[in-house]
Amino acid sequence: MKIGTDRMAKLINDLLSLARMENANVQVIKSPFNISEVIGEVILSMEALAKERGLSFSQSIEPGIIINSEMEIVKKIFMILFDNAIKYSDANGKISVSLRRDKHRVLCSVQNRGKTIAEEDLPKIFDRFYRADPSRTAENGGYGLGLAIAKASIERLGGNIYVENTPRGLTTFTFILGDS
Ligand SMILES: Nc1ncnc2c1ncn2[C@@H]1O[C@H](COP(=O)(O)OP(=O)(O)O)[C@@H](O)[C@H]1O
Ligand SMILES: [Mg+2]
Repeated sequence: MKIGTDRMAKLINDLLSLARMENANVQVIKSPFNISEVIGEVILSMEALAKERGLSFSQSIEPGIIINSEMEIVKKIFMILFDNAIKYSDANGKISVSLRRDKHRVLCSVQNRGKTIAEEDLPKIFDRFYRADPSRTAENGGYGLGLAIAKASIERLGGNIYVENTPRGLTTFTFILGDS
């Protein structure tokens, strides 16, 4: 198998991120930050990529939500979900992001339209190296590590992540964090 240096670098980085998140000895360093602003910034940096692919984009971000967590990890989780939403969207599809507070929890969802994940694949989707429908995903060039990193990361932060399918071809990933 041939692998380009960019892909190799990304693979190594992903493996290191996963190892770090799964290593209980590595400390998570929490401090308060405005997650509404952080998610907004990541959207600004990734929106162009979505538009380049002909995807439209909508967002519903509740302003001023402060959480006590590790900002870089939260950013990374959101980037993984946004990246997947772009990669696995139908042509001319739409991506929707929402961020909201519910009592002492903060919920962030990323939704796209496309081929949904088969029911039998749903429990495996967060496993390392797992890719549903490899024939279709081969061209997208990942190694099936994104969601494993997202899950290990959110668990380190004391939160949770889940996925939902709707029959109308919508896939929604949601991660939940406490606000303190
Ligand atoms: N938004 C999505 N819509 C449909 N399938 C998805 C979505 N996000 C992830 N998947 C499926 O989950 C698999 C694992 O995702 P991930 O761990 O990010 O790895 P990668 O993107 O490298 O394949 C993908 O290969 C794809 O089959
Ligand atoms: Mg991915």
